[in-house]
Amino acid sequence: MRSLARLWPYVRPVRGTLLVAALAAVLASCFGLVIPLALKWIVDGPVADRDPPGVWLGGLVVALLGVAEAGLAGVRRVVLAGPLAGVEAEMRSAFYRRLQRLPVSFHDRWPSGQLLSRATADLMLVRVFLAFPLTFLLVNGVTIVMGFAVLLLQEWTLGLVLLAPVVPLIVLCSLFEERYSRAARTSQDRVGDLTTIVEESVLGIRVIKGFGRHRAQEQAFARQSALLRESELRKASLLGRLWGLVTALPELAIGAALVLGVVQVADGGLTAGTLVAFLSTALALRWPVESIGFLLAVTNDAAAATDRFFEVMDAPQAPPDAAPEPAPADGSRTGRATVRDRGLRLAGVEFRYPDAPAAAPPVLRGVDLHIRPGETMALVGTTGCGKTTLTALIPRLHEATAGRITLDGQEITALPRARLRELVSVAFEEPTLFSASAGENVLMGAAGAGEAELRRALAVAQAGFVHSLPDGHRTQVGELGLSLSGGQRQRLALARAVVGGPRYLILDDPLSALDVHTEALVESALREVLATTTALVVAHRPSTVLLADRVALLSGGRITAVGTHHELLHGNGEYASLMSGPERRP
Ligand SMILES: Nc1ncnc2c1ncn2[C@@H]1O[C@H](COP(=O)(O)OP(=O)(O)OP(=O)(O)O)[C@@H](O)[C@H]1O
Ligand SMILES: [Mg+2]
Repeated sequence: MRSLARLWPYVRPVRGTLLVAALAAVLASCFGLVIPLALKWIVDGPVADRDPPGVWLGGLVVALLGVAEAGLAGVRRVVLAGPLAGVEAEMRSAFYRRLQRLPVSFHDRWPSGQLLSRATADLMLVRVFLAFPLTFLLVNGVTIVMGFAVLLLQEWTLGLVLLAPVVPLIVLCSLFEERYSRAARTSQDRVGDLTTIVEESVLGIRVIKGFGRHRAQEQAFARQSALLRESELRKASLLGRLWGLVTALPELAIGAALVLGVVQVADGGLTAGTLVAFLSTALALRWPVESIGFLLAVTNDAAAATDRFFEVMDAPQAPPDAAPEPAPADGSRTGRATVRDRGLRLAGVEFRYPDAPAAAPPVLRGVDLHIRPGETMALVGTTGCGKTTLTALIPRLHEATAGRITLDGQEITALPRARLRELVSVAFEEPTLFSASAGENVLMGAAGAGEAELRRALAVAQAGFVHSLPDGHRTQVGELGLSLSGGQRQRLALARAVVGGPRYLILDDPLSALDVHTEALVESALREVLATTTALVVAHRPSTVLLADRVALLSGGRITAVGTHHELLHGNGEYASLMSGPERRP
């Protein structure tokens, strides 16, 4: 109940419709319950009096009641369908919005299949719950209470016989619910794991085929699929047992009441019409009682689904943007920015990944670095030393755990993220492209950039190949851009980074996949861009390092040396060995 109550904000907008639907359903079941009373009147009146017109009239009344009941059931469905689809769509959009805003550290931790299954299968379960159990648990409850009132009024002794199974049924249902909800949760988690396997193997199909791993992958899938089958069967068996008992106990009670009733009619203590009415009321209550098992099952599925939905919605978000600082009275831009502060400055920056083992030292432990305005700084270090991590701190993809990062004297945490990300543009190590055209992929780099900027960016990144694609820059590049070569993807990602003419440019090993000639061309074109921006370029190769004015060496989580390439080559053993390989180590 507590889980489902959290759906209220999403259900609120359609509460009127739900109320109308519930009323229609209650009214329908009222009509259903009146039918036995009409039967009683027919049997004890016209039938006993041998009055054919009276029987026809009675039949007509029963038929009309039946039509009204069916019509109202139809109204309920028609009225609900649209608004509930709306609730589902709204929840799904809210989920997607949240996924887009959750920090990178969240996405590092969560398997994509778990997110995918929550956004699809789980939300469908919620909609099914809103369509059936939500109204029917209420309506059936009302019907059962009214029905029993009718039964007890007609013949209270027989009514009590029918009431006998109620207590065991309640106990059964609560036992069932507890077990079923656990099984439902397990099952839905397993759907998520299964989705992850499918997704990963589709994205990694080249590796799987290349290493002949399809059999192993199939086995992994089959194992996970067997787990899911097992938990689904457990659910089915729980539901089957419950349904069996929920059906059998009332049937037994109805049988007993029938025997007792026939005896009473024979003794003359009861009219035949009353017995007919009593039994048809009892039979009319069969569906509301029997459906409780199924409704509880769907409710528990939905409760587990809701929990899974809110686990993501409740995940801690990135801290909100700081309120903008009031403009300083003296009219200077930031009040504190001195010449020394201009450019990009990192002071005492520390970072540890949230899921890193507690004993491990932080990846960055006190990084001090100053990149002057307009300067290009290369960042060099052994693989895994934290270069990519350092670059991720500047656009705040991760939050530094200590220290300050300032752009022109202004702390990045004081800037709204949107503004920060306008100022700082990044070409990541993995050149990720989206299912869109080549041009659209580049233009993602800057809001409002047009054809002219696109051309310039493609020229800088030496991505002229785009013009010879079948539809030029309008050519679709396929999921993740896999229809392009690695170097082509890298150049598009580079074009994306430079298209907006950003003030600060961060390039994570941007030329690693290019042949030496293309690299040289990109470099000479890039020089122009770099001349007007403040840039940090992660580099592994001397040729890339040469783009930079100065080089910083990252080692042991700190910047251990800063200088020109030649200064470091001669003055720093670690740098010299990084740049020239072990055989020429001094
Ligand atoms: N999301 C993450 N969660 C936990 N640890 C991580 C994560 N990403 C990277 N690391 C760890 O942080 C360290 C630094 O990684 P980083 O990617 O910054 O290295 P790098 O210097 O860019 O290496 P390369 O030159 O190979 O690109 C590594 O030891 C890595 O295992
Ligand atoms: Mg890296």
